[in-house]
Amino acid sequence: MADATDTADTTGTTGAGRTGTDWQAWQDSWDRQQEWYMPDREERFRVMLDMVEALVGPTPRVLDLACGTGSITDRVLKRFPGATSTGVDLDPALLTIARGHFAGDGRVAFVTADLKDPDWRSALPHAGYDAVLTATALHWLHSEELAVLYGQLAPLLAPGGVFMNADHMPDPATPRINAAERAHRHAGMDRAKAAGALDWRDWWALAAADPALAEPTARRFEIYGEHADGDTPSADWHAETLRAAGFAEARTVWRSPSDALVLGLK
Ligand SMILES: C[S@@+](CC[C@H](N)C(=O)[O-])C[C@H]1O[C@@H](n2cnc3c(N)ncnc32)[C@H](O)[C@@H]1O
Repeated sequence: MADATDTADTTGTTGAGRTGTDWQAWQDSWDRQQEWYMPDREERFRVMLDMVEALVGPTPRVLDLACGTGSITDRVLKRFPGATSTGVDLDPALLTIARGHFAGDGRVAFVTADLKDPDWRSALPHAGYDAVLTATALHWLHSEELAVLYGQLAPLLAPGGVFMNADHMPDPATPRINAAERAHRHAGMDRAKAAGALDWRDWWALAAADPALAEPTARRFEIYGEHADGDTPSADWHAETLRAAGFAEARTVWRSPSDALVLGLK
């Protein structure tokens, strides 16, 4: 599934550019939709970038893994203007928004690749990165697939390089706490939805109705269906699997009742 690198358009005259689509509005709407599920999403990103700065400094070469619309890349470049970023994803619609939004920015490149493809790294424009960052994405993979992926990520980082995964990582030892927290969170989501918040399904219906996104949205549903089926192993599982994959240190650096940010240091 891996194919050639697309650097961000430097002329602003690609098909996406000609549509006059408001890519910033799509970015904002994606953020609101994701925040409906994760009200503390922005705090997760902030801690992620704090740890990037702490471990590899303010001019990182970033791989934004399963980048979607490029949410991590956007925050990286705003906070670290000297950074560069490669976004990799399989979703043609989210990549259309990403490419439209970052058109003209020579610091950014996007590649289409399936992280389950054993050869996905061949699509990358660089052999190495300082930071591999991912958010709310790797639960689309099953644990066995994720362990393989972690083994493929380690060689992309030199000693001192950092990997971070922010995702749903409930603690399997606390089912009653988990259930109570989930019920409380969903009650808040229901209230927000009644006040007009968009969920995943609503958001994709809007994308399908936009002429600039209708065709890639149809393709993404052919690829994934509604949503891929994966696992949500614990933060301890992620840390242990990262150590087994060749990371010298790995642990949780942030967590909420349902989610965690796990860091692996090469
Ligand atoms: C919920 S979105 C998160 C996007 C972004 N990281 C963010 O925080 O907004 C999950 C992303 O994972 C991507 N993804 C899931 N499985 C993938 C795979 N096998 N290969 C590449 N990307 C994948 C999806 O296409 C989607 O863009």
